[in-house]
Amino acid sequence: MTQLVAKDFPAMKNDNLLKAARGEDVDRIPVWVMRQAGRYLPEFQEERKVHDFFTICRTPELACEVTMQPLRRFDLDASIIFSDILVIPQALGMTVEMLPGKGPHFPEPLVTPSDCLKLNATGAVDRLKYVGDAITMMRHKLDGKVPLIGFTGAPWTLMGYMIEGGGSKTMSLTKGWLTEHNKEAHELLSLLTDTIVEYFEMQVKAGAQMLQVFESSADYIDKKQFAEVSLPYVRKIREQLRKKLQDQSIEPVPMVLFAKGGGHSLSEQAECGYEIIGLDYNVDPIEARKAVGPNVTLQGNLNPEDMYLPQDEIRAKTDEMVRKFGKKRYIANLGHGITPQTPIESMHTFVDTIHKVSQEL
Ligand code: CP3
Repeated sequence: MTQLVAKDFPAMKNDNLLKAARGEDVDRIPVWVMRQAGRYLPEFQEERKVHDFFTICRTPELACEVTMQPLRRFDLDASIIFSDILVIPQALGMTVEMLPGKGPHFPEPLVTPSDCLKLNATGAVDRLKYVGDAITMMRHKLDGKVPLIGFTGAPWTLMGYMIEGGGSKTMSLTKGWLTEHNKEAHELLSLLTDTIVEYFEMQVKAGAQMLQVFESSADYIDKKQFAEVSLPYVRKIREQLRKKLQDQSIEPVPMVLFAKGGGHSLSEQAECGYEIIGLDYNVDPIEARKAVGPNVTLQGNLNPEDMYLPQDEIRAKTDEMVRKFGKKRYIANLGHGITPQTPIESMHTFVDTIHKVSQEL
């Protein structure tokens, strides 16, 4: 171990998440929820009245407080550090604002490839040190209660926000780059890949115990484009990170690939080497298992919209989901991020049903 690795973390009391990731037997099926800290929690709204979104991300005490909020309410088996995928474009020198009720906004998006010259990759990960500080602080605050997950956006998803200037229903500008500036688009994807590898290395050294790559914008591309702009880069992230850690004798941590809308390419995803494939809510668990084989852990995938249903229907759908996945190599989750409108009661029902069914299996 090198000196840079944060050490002396409290012993783990519940490591079912990591056991499931490694394919070992679990005491109970681990459950966590994408975006589990955030807008649907009244205590998060209270924090947001006092602090700007990115101030919370950049202040380890505040980021840890918000990371802890869902764990106080629900019987979860993992925590995910509070941050955002868009801290990478920020660290590369772009301005990103979080507009209340609207989401992210880039006042100066990338318009032409020459705008990429303004991106400053040198030192980008040093400027993200606050994420590592929050991770290390959180490992101590968790006191081994559950493992801590770190994350990033995938290159294609990040490039989309950087070119569109925010969320987009079509990603037409970004797709325009693929046809008109294909070489430069791939150079940008490569630059993001290199930054992500270094960012993940920093997160592992800070104490992250699992890493998730959010390819949330796979939804906007077809299978062929996915093979061109997503798969090669997420594969590189995994390979290069492994190598970097190996060279420094640092234990690798399990990695999740979550490609929203990537259900057409599950076997191709499995070939990228990630221990865990996250499934969106359009994928059938049985079909997914057939596609990825027995040696990958699946994560997912109740439709977040189902969380508005009456509680007995949530219970029935969650019960059915868990039985379809089974207890082996499974991490329960939603099939995309929890929405702001979700009633707190539904989260209780979802989490508690998973634990109840898990006992019966
Ligand atoms: O608890 C957690 O899961 C950690 C927190 C987390 C946030 N963003 C906080 C956040 C995580 C894991 C993310 C990831 C993220 N951010 C993704 C990938 C996941 C997905 O949903 O597909 C994406 C695409 C983003 C970019 C982003 N950030 C958008 C599109 C928005 C606006 C819409 C929205 O989802 O809220 C954000 C803002 C954001 N990120 C909020 C939170 C709590 C709300 C902002 C606010 O409080 O004003």
